[in-house]
Amino acid sequence: MKWLVLLGLVAFSECIVKIPLRRVKTMRKTLSGKNMLKNFLKEHAYRLSQISFRGSNLTIHPLRNIRNLVYMGNITIGTPPQEFQVVFDTGSSDLWVPSDFCTSPACSTKIMFRHLQSSTFRPTNKTFRIAYESGRMKGVVACDTVRIGDLVSTDQPFGLRVAEYGFGHWRFDGILGLNYPNLSRSGAIPIFDKLKNEGAISEPVFAFYLSKDKQEGSVVMFGGVDHSYYKGELNWVPLIRAGDWSVHMDRIIKKREVIACSDGCSALVDTGTTLIQGPGRLVNKIQKLIGNKLRGSKHYVSCSVVNTLPSIIFTINGINYPVPAQAYILKDSRGYCYSAFKEKRVRGSTESWLLSDVFLRLYFSVFDRGNDRIGLAPSV
Ligand SMILES: *[C@@H]1O[C@H](CO)[C@@H](O)[C@H](O)[C@H]1NC(C)=O
Ligand SMILES: *[C@@H]1O[C@H](CO)[C@@H](O)[C@H](O)[C@H]1NC(C)=O
Ligand SMILES: *[C@@H]1O[C@H](CO)[C@@H](O)[C@H](O)[C@H]1NC(C)=O
Ligand SMILES: *[C@@H]1O[C@H](CO)[C@@H](O)[C@H](O)[C@H]1NC(C)=O
Repeated sequence: MKWLVLLGLVAFSECIVKIPLRRVKTMRKTLSGKNMLKNFLKEHAYRLSQISFRGSNLTIHPLRNIRNLVYMGNITIGTPPQEFQVVFDTGSSDLWVPSDFCTSPACSTKIMFRHLQSSTFRPTNKTFRIAYESGRMKGVVACDTVRIGDLVSTDQPFGLRVAEYGFGHWRFDGILGLNYPNLSRSGAIPIFDKLKNEGAISEPVFAFYLSKDKQEGSVVMFGGVDHSYYKGELNWVPLIRAGDWSVHMDRIIKKREVIACSDGCSALVDTGTTLIQGPGRLVNKIQKLIGNKLRGSKHYVSCSVVNTLPSIIFTINGINYPVPAQAYILKDSRGYCYSAFKEKRVRGSTESWLLSDVFLRLYFSVFDRGNDRIGLAPSV
């Protein structure tokens, strides 16, 4: 989810952490003997494309695909743990959940963080605001134990929602941002950075496999890459700059014809956004090529012609990533077919796109913080 407006960042003193993290250390157990482990680590450091981390301390966390619109996974916060379903979002950097601090009817949800029921809860006085495409929220920063499967971050700063506008119809409770720390709107250290700094994550990487149509089967993995989720080799793409999951895209083509991004453009690889978004003029051009008719906010096309529509090819770092019509045409709740291309609300001085779930269902994605790059390979 790309956040929209830059409001003043709040200065933030992080929650103090002294308690070491607990992790499942299968690899340490199997490779007993210091030298054996040392040699293994030396040999395998960063050779992500050659090795599988199955059986090592890679954390594979299930996500649920809600009608190809959003992918969410469970986390817990507090002691005893309170469970939330959150979107693991590479487009933003903050973690927040609903809370009992919000008393307005707009955020009356059944699931909310009840701070009085957690013995490890610690409040702060910091407040922040975030505006996403799908809604806005206001929050206050607090600290507590946050768990993603077997990854545990104690005294993790996170946001408690105290007001919200527009998230009402979504099925998720909150958002867990996986973008770089300097894009944090609350100023708090993101959970991935905290886990990484404390050595809870063996390699500073995470990766996504997003299932097609099926509700089950999607995963986010932390600390390494499981080969069994993609075919062939990962193609690595350097980031435009360290500090944001954006890459340079060479062009967008249909057959041999360049249809957008003719002078190159930037693309944010965003797991928290449903549709492929770009500048209005170019998106409209694509809608015309597809032959869509605008009805309401969506561009519809007859489901019977989907098989006749061309692939749209995104060229990144010299490699072609085709997106066939079966992927860029989605079905709404009544079974009608519509285009997954959408005009981006935020305009910038340079052409920029959001490569979202529509793209990431086809391509397994690795986010490598150690080398500031993204790896892509066809999903299984
Ligand atoms: C999250 O937890 C709920 C209830 O505890 C469970 O029904 C659901 O399957 C879990 N989701 C995932 C992706 O594991
Ligand atoms: C919040 O601010 C008040 C005064 O502005 C201060 O007394 C209090 O200790 C602060 N609380 C925290 C948790 O920082
Ligand atoms: C497993 O995790 C520990 C830290 O808990 C780390 O030092 C080690 O390098 C990891 N092992 C592998 C094989 O990545
Ligand atoms: C974010 O931080 C990185 C270092 O981690 C830095 O290189 C980059 O310039 C920063 N980006 C912004 C937009 O401040």
